[in-house]
Amino acid sequence: MFGKNNLHFVPDMDIFVALMEANHFNSRYRLPLPPQPLRFMNESDERFLKTGEEFLGILRRYGFHETSSLLDMGSAYGRLAYGILQGMNFQGRYLGLDILPKHVEWCRRTITPSHGNFQFEVLNIHNARYNPRGLFDARTYRFKIADDGFDYCALFSVFTHMYEPEIMNYLGEIKRILSPGGICVSTFFLFDEARLPALTDAKGSMSMKHLLNEHTRYHSAEDPLHAIAYQRDYMTGQIINFGFGLLECTYGTWAGDGHGTYQDLVVFKKS
Ligand SMILES: C[S@@+](CC[C@H](N)C(=O)[O-])C[C@H]1O[C@@H](n2cnc3c(N)ncnc32)[C@H](O)[C@@H]1O
Repeated sequence: MFGKNNLHFVPDMDIFVALMEANHFNSRYRLPLPPQPLRFMNESDERFLKTGEEFLGILRRYGFHETSSLLDMGSAYGRLAYGILQGMNFQGRYLGLDILPKHVEWCRRTITPSHGNFQFEVLNIHNARYNPRGLFDARTYRFKIADDGFDYCALFSVFTHMYEPEIMNYLGEIKRILSPGGICVSTFFLFDEARLPALTDAKGSMSMKHLLNEHTRYHSAEDPLHAIAYQRDYMTGQIINFGFGLLECTYGTWAGDGHGTYQDLVVFKKS
């Protein structure tokens, strides 16, 4: 009765069930999570998935839906991509860009084969902290993306590691790349007069003691791009000067006074 074929039936059944589940449930059961050595933010599996869920929640608040198109700038090892994969039945277009080749390659190898609408591309752009050997200059780089190509752009914890002239170029490019009405969700470290005592006395979780210029401060003397902060009104003013409509500027918890996200959340719209 229990011959060779029956024994083989069990694993076949497993595959069948897995395929069924894949059609009805989200993908977190099918895709391996990024290996620990790639996780330079050192989070646990639970934290990794939770962060992706939080990121997706913010996008959802701004109307992100199953067929939206999203440019995830600084996609790293896929926190937002996994948030989308586990949180919704996404049929739209996702493009993750990052300057870390190994991370991009891992995402491409792991996610794209089963989810062809998730694409990942590496950018050979210089960043003193993340890609010191990068060839191209973030202050002048033009992305190989058509005008009006995406409904959404996300930059979670990316402008917190970029100098102002680089951010200005990215804002111009985002303006070009977003479709009319397109929305950019970004995070920053921001400060104002009220926040300064906490940041310079290091009462918040991330001190910003070092002054680069009147509207720029940073955490580490050795590594300014570890965490760089901008004066709030100055930065939101720049965003508005680019012709964006400012939808939200909410202080996060990093300096000990805000709520919601850890970093400060800045959302703006191409009008
Ligand atoms: C703190 S990580 C955040 C990664 C991801 N957004 C997340 O929250 O999981 C910062 C990321 O920004 C990327 N990055 C830094 N400079 C960049 C640039 N000029 N263009 C695109 N990505 C950049 C880094 O390579 C890194 O993956």
